[in-house]
Amino acid sequence: MVRVKLKIVVKTVFILCIMVGSVYVLLPRNLCERDTSSIWNSTSNAEGNPHNYTLILNNPGRCDVTSDDVFLLVMVTSTPGNREQRLAIRNTWGNEANVKGTIIRTVFAVGLTQDAKMQGDLEQENGVYKDIIQEDFVDSYRNLTLKTVMCLKWASEFCPNAKFVLKTDDDTFVNIFNLVRRLRRLKGTQARRFVTGRVFTGAKPVRETADKTEARWCLTKGDYPRDSFPPYPGGNAYVISNDITRLIYEVSLTVQYLFIEDVYFGLCLEKLGIHPEHNGEFVFGRDVHSCEDKKIASHWLKTPGAMVRAWQNLIRSC
Ligand SMILES: *[C@@H]1O[C@H](CO)[C@@H](O)[C@H](O)[C@H]1NC(C)=O
Ligand SMILES: *[C@@H]1O[C@H](CO)[C@@H](O)[C@H](O)[C@H]1NC(C)=O
Ligand SMILES: *[C@@H]1O[C@H](CO)[C@@H](O)[C@H](O)[C@H]1NC(C)=O
Repeated sequence: MVRVKLKIVVKTVFILCIMVGSVYVLLPRNLCERDTSSIWNSTSNAEGNPHNYTLILNNPGRCDVTSDDVFLLVMVTSTPGNREQRLAIRNTWGNEANVKGTIIRTVFAVGLTQDAKMQGDLEQENGVYKDIIQEDFVDSYRNLTLKTVMCLKWASEFCPNAKFVLKTDDDTFVNIFNLVRRLRRLKGTQARRFVTGRVFTGAKPVRETADKTEARWCLTKGDYPRDSFPPYPGGNAYVISNDITRLIYEVSLTVQYLFIEDVYFGLCLEKLGIHPEHNGEFVFGRDVHSCEDKKIASHWLKTPGAMVRAWQNLIRSC
């Protein structure tokens, strides 16, 4: 009798556990509740964002040109292991000789790797192409803003003679012909204090989400107290006139660190009173097919093959 009852109790408890467990697993949970602040406290600083890092790979003479000025400095944020992506970019849209009569310089920006072999490969690659810059902060997603600040600093220090700077990622495809054409049309003051890209206005911080991808951008009130972001250009590709890269770098030192790199960039612009200009030709899909479609940049070309195919489609029409 007692044994049977015990069995029933055990069974009931077991079934209840399963039920409660599955409700817990299936219910949408707010993934923002996990505390992630501790992993980036080292770079978070209420007084601002001091950028005390040292270049361990540099090509200081990259922008030395004798004839004309550099028209466009392309800065591609990459990571030490993404050698194939860099090769694909060098061979396609990032080739400096693509646009006749226009001086372009392409540089890849990376952070630090703990992997000695990877570092060796990176140095060897830089020995061949002389186009990599590396600062001594840990290369990680949460440190992406440091990479942007590094680019601003480098552009103003080592490439002051460039007219424009394109800040982009190594999974972005750029229609370099349309971009140069577009920038050439800017005259006089239009080409000063100028920032353009796909501009987001009135976007809000993610406070709670059940979506894993979105959870990458969770921000607590402590991380970011305001209810919306200032206008900012989507981080995969934006253009800055080089008269303001130093200003943006300098103001960044006084803007509290936020790992969402493009929002952080928008905060710096806001502090300077610079309004980024929206340009719908910067897109997110993979729809930069031809020169006629007037697109400038697209995102999510995750493989070197995709980069090469997009390029082959493009040059057939440009
Ligand atoms: C990180 O910073 C937050 C906010 O300033 C603070 O509440 C938290 O205790 C810090 N975490 C660590 C591990 O220092
Ligand atoms: C960064 O450098 C500045 C100026 O050299 C210095 O005042 C500051 O203490 C440094 N900060 C850190 C965290 O090392
Ligand atoms: C960012 O880089 C700094 C400096 O190397 C490092 O101390 C910190 O742990 C890094 N943060 C993350 C989240 O990787």
